[in-house]
Amino acid sequence: MPQEYKLILKHADEPGYTPDLECYLRHGGYETLKKALALRPQTQTPQAFIRQEIMTSGLRGRGGAGFSCGLKWSFVDRKSGKPVYLICNADESEPGTFKDRQIIYKDPHQLIEGMIISCFANDVKLAYIYIRGEMSDGAKLLNQCLQEARAKNFLGKNVLGSGYDLEIHVHRGAGAYICGVETGLIESLEGKRPYPRIKPPYFPAVFGLWLCPTIVNNVETLCNVKHIVAMGGAEFAKLGTPNNTGTRIVSISGHVKRPGYYEIEIGKATIGQLIFDANFGGGLRPGRSLKAVIPGGSSAKVFKAGEKFKIKGKEVDMLDLPYDFDSLIQAGSMSGSSAIIVMDDSTDIVEALANIAEFYAHESCGQCTPCREGSLWLSKALHRLTHGEGRAQDADYLVKIADNIPGGRTICAFGEACAWPVQSFVAKFKDEFVARGTADEERREAKRKTELTKLQTPDLNSVNSVNSVQ
Ligand SMILES: Cc1cc2nc3c(=O)[nH]c(=O)nc-3n(C[C@H](O)[C@H](O)[C@H](O)COP(=O)(O)O)c2cc1C
Ligand code: SF4
Repeated sequence: MPQEYKLILKHADEPGYTPDLECYLRHGGYETLKKALALRPQTQTPQAFIRQEIMTSGLRGRGGAGFSCGLKWSFVDRKSGKPVYLICNADESEPGTFKDRQIIYKDPHQLIEGMIISCFANDVKLAYIYIRGEMSDGAKLLNQCLQEARAKNFLGKNVLGSGYDLEIHVHRGAGAYICGVETGLIESLEGKRPYPRIKPPYFPAVFGLWLCPTIVNNVETLCNVKHIVAMGGAEFAKLGTPNNTGTRIVSISGHVKRPGYYEIEIGKATIGQLIFDANFGGGLRPGRSLKAVIPGGSSAKVFKAGEKFKIKGKEVDMLDLPYDFDSLIQAGSMSGSSAIIVMDDSTDIVEALANIAEFYAHESCGQCTPCREGSLWLSKALHRLTHGEGRAQDADYLVKIADNIPGGRTICAFGEACAWPVQSFVAKFKDEFVARGTADEERREAKRKTELTKLQTPDLNSVNSVNSVQ
């Protein structure tokens, strides 16, 4: 039976572990930073050496897309003469996701150490933590911890006598999901509305913050950097499975007995094990059966219980899919922000989708017509369906709208994020959408007939009373 493997959360949940610097230092905190600053490789600079280690480790971004961290860092334009910035994406707004905040609230110095090493490796002198607006306690705590780090000269001028200068600031978002999209985040950090930028030309590695080369990485990704430097890239790559290295913190929510966050070696547990094993989700409530699973946050395509996939020529049940980046993509969905949302047979699937669609309609930034109008039409159609005003053809209507949002018609991947749930929910549960619309139509038709009959049948009592008055 697979177990949790705690690399990032090694200390966070230990009894007595606190988020202050003293406690972090007692647990070996900032030793890896000292190691990084003292590196003297023979054939390359210490910075290039660390970047090479990140590449060797196979680390993939934990924010959603699973893009290679080493490759992202290699795209940074280091010859422009402009400053290079690093931004930690701590927006964590994808519904179902609650992993980054565990790090921020329980082990914030780990993130700060990971950031300092990442900044050192990329010659960054100024970095930001862009934190979701609602996490005001997290912002306060991070500011306190940055203050503690400055006092010990882990930050500031001439870090630990190395000659390297670095400052990190916390920036609070205003509570919009679109601020999680890296170019929207950058606009917001510049003090503007978080309208995502079009790529090309605005690839952050070249034209990012203040149009300077910029790295945007997720909280968990940056924490991993510390562990890679501590253990070496090759050793890190032994964790997890090939091309899916290291660990991931998985948020499990919905109809399981033990909702919560669990750190696993990537690909070493299946979706079924994460939902049913006593070590993880602990199974469904008594008497219930599984209906559907969203495997990577609300924008990931839903899986239906019993669904089968062809993976490397073999038929695999949805529950037997290894929870890793590649298997889930091959099965037509994604591990996204590694948030598993479990739905049992008590779930009204039309209501569930209506809820998701309302969120996306609310959060669209409105720059692109297909996304702005499409997300609203989807939400309105689903609102009708869940309020007795549906039509049998609404299932096809929803898919037609959703099909016309993504696929290069929009500036950012929000277009995909709002279309994928609709496309997959309707494709996999079409009978429920059609049944709901048909029932609504039949109810309306029956009501219309009753009213018509009433109109055509004179009320003899009222006719008599009129006659008697005359
Ligand atoms: C709609 C949308 C929302 C996103 N929200 C987040 C978020 O809350 N946190 C995050 O780290 N990345 C989020 N991302 C991904 C970021 O754009 C970016 O790819 C990521 O922060 C890069 O970090 P990584 O390479 O370490 O994963 C979002 C992307 C999209 C399209
Ligand atoms: S796809 Fe949607 S969220 Fe993204 S820029 Fe266009 S309108 Fe805004």
